[in-house]
Amino acid sequence: MTGIVTGDDSELPDLSEFRRVTASCLACGRRLSVTAPSLTCDCGGNLDLQQPVSASPQALRRALEHCSTRSMWQFEPFLPVAAHWGSHLQVGGTPLLNLGSVQGINLWLKDETRNPSGSLKDRASELVLAVAAAGGITEVVMASTGNAAASLAAVGAAQQTRVSVVVPRDIPVAKLAQIRAFGAEVHRIDGSYAAACAVASKLAKARGALNRTTGLNPFTREGKKTCAYEIALQLQWDAPDWVIVPTGDGNILSAMAKGFADLKAAGLIQQHVRLVAVQTAAACPIAQPFDPALRGKASATSSATSSVTCADSINVADPMDLQAAVLALQSTAGQAVVVDDAEISAAVMTMAARFGVFLEPSSAAGYAGFERLRRQGVFAAGDRVVLVGTGTGLKDLTVVIVAAAAQSAPAVHPDDWRSLIAQPALAGP
Ligand SMILES: Cc1ncc(COP(=O)(O)O)c(C=O)c1O
Ligand SMILES: [Zn+2]
Repeated sequence: MTGIVTGDDSELPDLSEFRRVTASCLACGRRLSVTAPSLTCDCGGNLDLQQPVSASPQALRRALEHCSTRSMWQFEPFLPVAAHWGSHLQVGGTPLLNLGSVQGINLWLKDETRNPSGSLKDRASELVLAVAAAGGITEVVMASTGNAAASLAAVGAAQQTRVSVVVPRDIPVAKLAQIRAFGAEVHRIDGSYAAACAVASKLAKARGALNRTTGLNPFTREGKKTCAYEIALQLQWDAPDWVIVPTGDGNILSAMAKGFADLKAAGLIQQHVRLVAVQTAAACPIAQPFDPALRGKASATSSATSSVTCADSINVADPMDLQAAVLALQSTAGQAVVVDDAEISAAVMTMAARFGVFLEPSSAAGYAGFERLRRQGVFAAGDRVVLVGTGTGLKDLTVVIVAAAAQSAPAVHPDDWRSLIAQPALAGP
């Protein structure tokens, strides 16, 4: 154990927490002795962390099922840092909602909107900031399309750790406001998410701060994999056939693959869970080679230009966790699908009006992908499919405001209330 290596290569104190964690490079395969957030391999590849879990499946099952904690820290035996470094917020322990049968397919939603800042990103922020706390690190920097920054800012406030975030020009105003409310230092860049990532790396290095940028920091995957653990536990270790993941950087996707692989290796599940990556037509570099409709076509986007889409959180032209995301699809015999803004907007309305769940467009994209693959006959009757509801609709109201404006009628005088009796019910999706 050599201690935490930060961006400027200065050593922080030895962390006993990380003694048993090893890292390997996803690009060149080199095993690294560094057992802390040294961020990337010398070759530029992202790292994958390995954490030995030695207990028997029976002992693990007993420990997990009888654990009194209802949060991601329930899965402490699989995590690289001890639970006592976590914040006082409850991150994880989110419900798995049974949405019933859709044309013979059994559908669930893992409702990650219930996390403290309203998105799945809290799992990564909670873990990275626990690592920071354990290592005596006082500042964490990152680039984000919005949710991850809001999440880091929230957990940073709870942990009293200094947080500085770099965000792209077109971040939705509610996300910007949320980050500021949590007291983080915000730098809005006149450019895309890729530009924000480049700036965040330089800033972290210059300040000697830890970089939490999704994918670059291998602990982000370790935090997010707890979502897969929870799904399996909530289905009594009878893992689903498919898990559908809205995908930008590909870090949630790679984390889900890792989570289910961990459970299989530990003997807790037997099934093979297939993953589906759903991307927006505005930016689909991960899905493109896997989607038969797009295979062979020129790339839809490049980092120099950022296409406009209502799904801003997954508008990622150069994914930060590309290699791991592709591996996740290959190793799970997964699928990928690309959806457009019209499908995503319709999915926002359907998730809300049909299921009572309000998701932001990037998150509802998962349901749009499910609908498209269902129509293509990808799912068999009786298949069990879990959508990951990655973020709340309350932070990005544009789509629903446009829909509401289209439906708006003149205000009714109170004395004219009888005119309401004959009104048709509000149109559903
Ligand atoms: C709501 C939401 N869904 C999905 C994603 C995609 O996650 P990833 O970038 O790890 O692919 C994000 C990322 O910002 C997000 O905020
Ligand atoms: Zn390497």
